[in-house]
Amino acid sequence: SLPSRVTLVDVGPRDGLQNEKQPVATEHKARLVALLQDAGLKEIEVTSFVSPKWVPQMADNVDVMTAIERRPGVRYSVLTPNMKGLEAALPTKPDEIVVFAAASEAFSQRNINCSIAESIARFAPVVAAAHEAGIKVRGALSCAVGCPYQGEVSPDEVERVVKLMQGIGVDHMGVADTIGVGTPKKVQAAMERALKHYPLVEVSGHFHDTYGQALTNIYACLEMGVHHFDASVSGLGGCPYAKGATGNVATEDVVFMLNGLGIDTGIDIDKLVDAGAFISNVLGRSPVSRVGRALLAK
Ligand code: HMG
Ligand code: MG
Repeated sequence: SLPSRVTLVDVGPRDGLQNEKQPVATEHKARLVALLQDAGLKEIEVTSFVSPKWVPQMADNVDVMTAIERRPGVRYSVLTPNMKGLEAALPTKPDEIVVFAAASEAFSQRNINCSIAESIARFAPVVAAAHEAGIKVRGALSCAVGCPYQGEVSPDEVERVVKLMQGIGVDHMGVADTIGVGTPKKVQAAMERALKHYPLVEVSGHFHDTYGQALTNIYACLEMGVHHFDASVSGLGGCPYAKGATGNVATEDVVFMLNGLGIDTGIDIDKLVDAGAFISNVLGRSPVSRVGRALLAK
């Protein structure tokens, strides 16, 4: 049977905005976070502590973390690829940090400028220092079903990096389809490998919707009992180092599907649609979310 409850992490402020060419004002980012928590999101990925030369949109990370109004019961996470990122992030008091590796060597090089092995060596002290500070560490594993530079990625390659991340103490494994090429059986095969090393409660899916497969893939994961997913309000986003990759699955679309399945998310879909309309308006475009558009047209 399917899970009765699902936790969604809205990664819109981070994954959604990181690839936007036009600078988005810090206050608009903070407002987006406010609207998401108003809608009932309990986990929000706020920003990333990466090089501003690589990802200029995230250069205001400290300001965004300062500007958000934190609500009890909501967890705020940030990306930290190395000690420099963690050291900058710690004073802003994130509830969780994310270290991000790839199942493909080529993507690791393009995204974080090092090999998979080097990335694990960089993450190890980050994980230790985060734990020392009482902060949970999520791991993201990019290109778990396909790589924009290498093509197919096998479950064996996924499992190899899952084990490396588990070996340095990463608490949670997010299986990511960076370029949205996954289809249900392939995604299940990758998930299975994560579930060999992490308990069900500590595995999540992160699906980009480039090929329109994300909802189907989430359903395939629900069938395995996975009940934790990343999604991005309004379907914003894309990775700067994965050409042509579009946004994450839209949070509105996921909530609509889960509502229809009778699965509780604690999210108010109308307020979520408003959050999507707000940020789409800031960006000067109509929401990518099909559900968002349909509900706005009502
Ligand atoms: P590097 O150039 O290899 O690092 O970058 P370095 O240690 O050689 O340092 C070079 C310069 O960067 C130095 O500055 C450092 O101070 C600075 P300079 O002396 O030249 O002025 N630097 C930093 N500045 C700020 N914050 C930092 C930091 N680290 C070094 N943390 C690095 C390595 C990882 C930093 C770089 O490659 C980078 O920032 N990459 C961007 C990665 C990124 O943000 N990608 C998108 C997010 S991941 C994603 O979207 C996938 C995900 O959604 C899952 C999925 O869909 O697959 C999570
Ligand atoms: Mg992503």
